[in-house]
Amino acid sequence: MDDVTLIQIRSIDGQSEAEACACLMAASEPWITLRRDYRAALKIITDASREVYVAVGAEMIRGFVVLVMQGAFTGYIQSVCVDAEWRGQGIGSRLIQFAEQRILSVTPNVFLCVSSFNPAARRLYQRMGYEVIGELKDYIVQGYSEILMRKSIGPLTEFASQTQRMIANPDLHIEK
Ligand SMILES: CC(C)(COP(=O)(O)OP(=O)(O)OC[C@H]1O[C@@H](n2cnc3c(N)ncnc32)[C@H](O)[C@@H]1OP(=O)(O)O)[C@@H](O)C(=O)NCCC(=O)NCCS
Repeated sequence: MDDVTLIQIRSIDGQSEAEACACLMAASEPWITLRRDYRAALKIITDASREVYVAVGAEMIRGFVVLVMQGAFTGYIQSVCVDAEWRGQGIGSRLIQFAEQRILSVTPNVFLCVSSFNPAARRLYQRMGYEVIGELKDYIVQGYSEILMRKSIGPLTEFASQTQRMIANPDLHIEK
């Protein structure tokens, strides 16, 4: 086991890393119940419209996060996954914090969904400041819901005007 504090988060690099991430995902809940097999996982991870970041230790992928940075819910954490042997050591929290930094640099909302049968992940998100927005019943598979959650640092209009002021005057320090 390598030291978890030495784990680095960076952009995914190449097909073999995508395949390693797809293996982790396809072998794990909630995706087993959601019937996301290796092929479906690989399709998401290699989708050019997604941003994928990996947590790497000892040149091995310990976890990853997939972001959607365009469309109706800009700033959507589509998937976060940590290698089963490495869970409970803070890697997932670090991946989510990394995703939040990326997302909150362009929009004031971070969205994600958690399956109704995944209470441990839901607790983690709530602890990290996510609130339940709504329930998408029978959304991916019959009999289970996806719970939409959001973490927000303010309304869109305020964020847009702050960004405009920052662009106009980069030295300006804006208190929130
Ligand atoms: C959810 C997940 C990404 C969290 O990553 P992690 O590195 O285990 O998380 P951290 O060590 O930062 O935080 C631990 C917390 O994660 C939560 N958690 C969720 N699923 C967990 C799991 N299978 N094993 C350990 N912790 C889990 C627990 O609430 C735990 O909090 P606790 O210590 O108070 O019990 C990771 O456990 C995982 O990949 N789970 C399977 C896939 C999944 O559920 N992804 C989320 C889909 S919405």
